[in-house]
Amino acid sequence: MKELSLNILDIVKNSVRAGATKIEIYLNTNLDGILTVRIVDNGCGMDEETLKRVTDPFYTTRTTRKVGLGLPLLKMAAEQTGGSLNICSSTEKGKSGTSLSAVFDTKNIDCMPMGDIISTVCVLISGSPEIDFEFTDVNSDRCVSLKTAELREVLGDISLAEPEVQSWIAEYLKDQYSQ
Ligand SMILES: Nc1ncnc2c1ncn2[C@@H]1O[C@H](COP(=O)(O)OP(=O)(O)OP(=O)(O)O)[C@@H](O)[C@H]1O
Ligand SMILES: [Mg+2]
Repeated sequence: MKELSLNILDIVKNSVRAGATKIEIYLNTNLDGILTVRIVDNGCGMDEETLKRVTDPFYTTRTTRKVGLGLPLLKMAAEQTGGSLNICSSTEKGKSGTSLSAVFDTKNIDCMPMGDIISTVCVLISGSPEIDFEFTDVNSDRCVSLKTAELREVLGDISLAEPEVQSWIAEYLKDQYSQ
């Protein structure tokens, strides 16, 4: 993987597969160029054994394929910049879910470029229009934010996956980035 946005796509797909109804994607870059990527979901969570082995590329609960790469790749991408990956997860009924936080030093030469985060957000929303996504991307100059629950209220019966809605979302985000 050459772009962080693709890595993020992969990680959020885990949350979708975990049956989450709400997923937060929070990016924050501080003045020192330290990027924190936080992804929080209310899916089924991971049991202790899974959690322990989750950053080991030879562990996966998939039955079609033996190797899960999403989390190990994210961990590697963060660590090669001098950053880190932390994961908290609970399977407890009523409050299950997973939150992870990956830290990247964007000034490090080994830091992957972000790539097309807008497309990542759009792909996620169109693939799971019923999920409440909250996307935020903050740095010292601007705060980009999108909450699909708010859009859904305005749209009524129209699906967030409709092509017109998708182009609107892409434009809406692009506008916020160029401010
Ligand atoms: N948000 C999450 N909620 C619940 N379980 C998760 C979550 N993220 C990861 N897992 C568990 O950790 C395992 C490893 O995840 P990882 O993304 O590394 O690999 P994978 O999803 O199995 O395969 P790949 O990402 O390569 O398609 C998953 O199979 C799943 O059991
Ligand atoms: Mg995965």
